[in-house]
Amino acid sequence: MPSVTVDPSGTFLTFGRSSGSLRFHAIWLRDNAQDEETRAASNGQRLVALRDIPADTKIETANMSASGRLEIRFAPDGKETSFDPDWLEANAYDHMAPAEKGWLPPEIETWDSGLMNGLPSSDFAALQRGGPELQEWLEQIVRYGFAKVENAPAEAGTLFQIVDLFGYVRETNYGRHFEVRTEVNPTNLAFTGLGLQAHTDNPYRDPVPTVQVLHCLENSAAGGENMVVDGFAAALRLREENPDGFELLANHCARFEYMGEAGVCLTSRRPMIELAPDGALIGIRFNNRSCAAVTDVPFEKMEAYYAAYRRFGEIIDNSAMEVTFKLAPGDAFVVDNTRVLHARKGYSGKGNRWLQGCYADMDGLRSTYDAMTQARSLEAAE
Ligand code: FE2
Repeated sequence: MPSVTVDPSGTFLTFGRSSGSLRFHAIWLRDNAQDEETRAASNGQRLVALRDIPADTKIETANMSASGRLEIRFAPDGKETSFDPDWLEANAYDHMAPAEKGWLPPEIETWDSGLMNGLPSSDFAALQRGGPELQEWLEQIVRYGFAKVENAPAEAGTLFQIVDLFGYVRETNYGRHFEVRTEVNPTNLAFTGLGLQAHTDNPYRDPVPTVQVLHCLENSAAGGENMVVDGFAAALRLREENPDGFELLANHCARFEYMGEAGVCLTSRRPMIELAPDGALIGIRFNNRSCAAVTDVPFEKMEAYYAAYRRFGEIIDNSAMEVTFKLAPGDAFVVDNTRVLHARKGYSGKGNRWLQGCYADMDGLRSTYDAMTQARSLEAAE
């Protein structure tokens, strides 16, 4: 049986279970009451604002009930509520703040070229059936930041059916979708064999499009593989080698811009390595083509900033970091554009390469995945 002790001040209690003890504040417990006066039974939304809760809220009494719930009476308003101990444990906050900048939550796994041995991938028909296959594929996109789709129809517009698996298209200045079409002309080799440096798309957007989908319709040229690099792995490698360089890229905004068509003047001011206020690594922006003049780094730090930027690029370009794959007609891949950089390898010889691309939202993909996971765990519990 769990134990509960109220601090004499009434401002917090200590909840003890075999796994250890956890402290919870009176104001936090009162605000997070799970009863029907505080939360709507139908949708779980909070019915009270903090202004409805007395600022001097204290715990008057707290006991474990016979049914194993933590029962609390608050002062000064006499409000009574009870908590499921499992809910408290799942929502506990009495732990050390992460000390290291660039930490990642456990559901995210960084990778390098070794991931080529087990490329995250699934069959289009299986994904369309939904269920565990779709859930696993979405889990791979959350975990690795990208996944392939195999054996979809090699028909224009199929990419929208891929987006339908998890969310909605994000339309941009490039349209609802865009064409990536190249006819390789062997009589003009100067224009063949050109690869692109790995990059994230549209860093000049705020917010950036967070998912990109590329679907292959034709790929008969030699070469032309797609390549992806884990931007989180690259940032953590930079941190390992050069913590000051990591901090420079994280603590200062770069600037990005695109004004390549009439009526468009997109600019953003964001760091290449983005951290949450508690140091969590949450985003990468890297794109040599759309980097504008950096003006937010102090004079004294600019040379060191450039050295860090150069080294970050070298890590990204290192073949040990990259995963390559060739898309057959009908294949596609989905990439988390806030994390994973993508590029096209050079190609040559005769043939055509035609892909269609579009953007979508990572939070929507995550919502679909989390909702499926919750539904399945409820099913399993029944
Ligand atoms: Fe791109």
